[in-house]
Amino acid sequence: MAQSVFAGKRIVIGVCGSIAAFKVAGWVSELAKEEALVSVVMTASAREFITPLTFAALSGNDVHTGMFDAGKEDVMAHINIGRDADVILVAPATANLMARLAIGMADDLLTTTLLASRAGVLICPAMNPRMYDHPATRRNLRTLKELGYVIIDPESGMMACKEEGEGRLAEWDTVREYLAKSLSAQDLQGQRVLVTAGPTREPLDPARFLSNRSSGKMGYALARAAFRRGAEVILVSGPTTLPCPPGVTREMVQTALEMRERVLAHAEGCSVIVKAAAVADYRPETLHEHKVKKENIEKELVLEKNPDILFELGKQKKSGQVLVGFAAESKNLAEEGLKKLRKKNLDLIAVNDIGGDRTGFEAETNQLLLISRSGTETLPFTSKAHTADLLWDRIVALL
Ligand code: C5P
Repeated sequence: MAQSVFAGKRIVIGVCGSIAAFKVAGWVSELAKEEALVSVVMTASAREFITPLTFAALSGNDVHTGMFDAGKEDVMAHINIGRDADVILVAPATANLMARLAIGMADDLLTTTLLASRAGVLICPAMNPRMYDHPATRRNLRTLKELGYVIIDPESGMMACKEEGEGRLAEWDTVREYLAKSLSAQDLQGQRVLVTAGPTREPLDPARFLSNRSSGKMGYALARAAFRRGAEVILVSGPTTLPCPPGVTREMVQTALEMRERVLAHAEGCSVIVKAAAVADYRPETLHEHKVKKENIEKELVLEKNPDILFELGKQKKSGQVLVGFAAESKNLAEEGLKKLRKKNLDLIAVNDIGGDRTGFEAETNQLLLISRSGTETLPFTSKAHTADLLWDRIVALL
């Protein structure tokens, strides 16, 4: 498996005084497990919620607190902490911290560290919904964005103060993805990419449908990796229970006809289209409005062909657009792949071996056979996440 993007990276985490500080202890632990070099800076009020000892134990490093306590070991701590950082994460970021940073105050170790550093800074606000919604907080957020800080929006939900609304600290999965993005090469920056994923469902009546074994995992991994590498990502997804990858715009569809409609609406504006979805080739000719009683079910089902979306995309492909298809095959992988590459006018086709249970449908791992105009290549057997990155490497080379 590939090495973690966090291994050996210097990550400074600024913790402010919010009840959400305890959640960040878990994040530090996760990053330390992935071999990141984590330094924690706490504001005075953060220390009212959680002790420096917790962060020291979890990060394996001393925790920085007051400007002048730090001086005991390092007189220039306020300069040094941020200087070598690969990225700085402020979480939870209070309204107070954001106000101070927005006007460039440097009145404690955290604000001074932020001003003295040139590393990228990610800010995760967390506060009571009315504080978050206050015009002053909104103005400070706008200012921080203008200054180049990346704001990871808080979520909506029930708060510790028993109020509902926007202001709950972002989830780790989201923050992790933004951190990873800040540490990754942005080789898809400026590209708008369209990824399709999952199966389609072709209904017979309100209870029954025809579908296939696609889980959507490969397509979702591709969408996630593309966001991390700087792309603007649109994911058109068939039914799956997978959560939307952070930073990705997702549109859910059910049928092949719905997928076609959404894909064609976006295709023109995208420089790369990766069709990882397993689109059902046929749909029942008749869709019954009410559930068909079992006594009345015909033994033979009459089917109608679905449009081949990828074939249509291949016909209308603009110059410079990269079109990537998938093929699920259980035999003659190379032959079938090449046939489809040519027929559908693709730049690259990724052939999935669905013969076993470690690759293809539903598996966490995969091994793709890639066929392009210039030859074939078998990727290593690895996780779908790593496979997604290897596939993007090849697509970037085609762009
Ligand atoms: O021809 P086959 O279905 O094996 O090709 C698979 C590729 O074509 C996948 O990329 C899939 O998303 C796409 N496809 C499609 N519309 C269909 C069937 C497949 O876009 N109706």
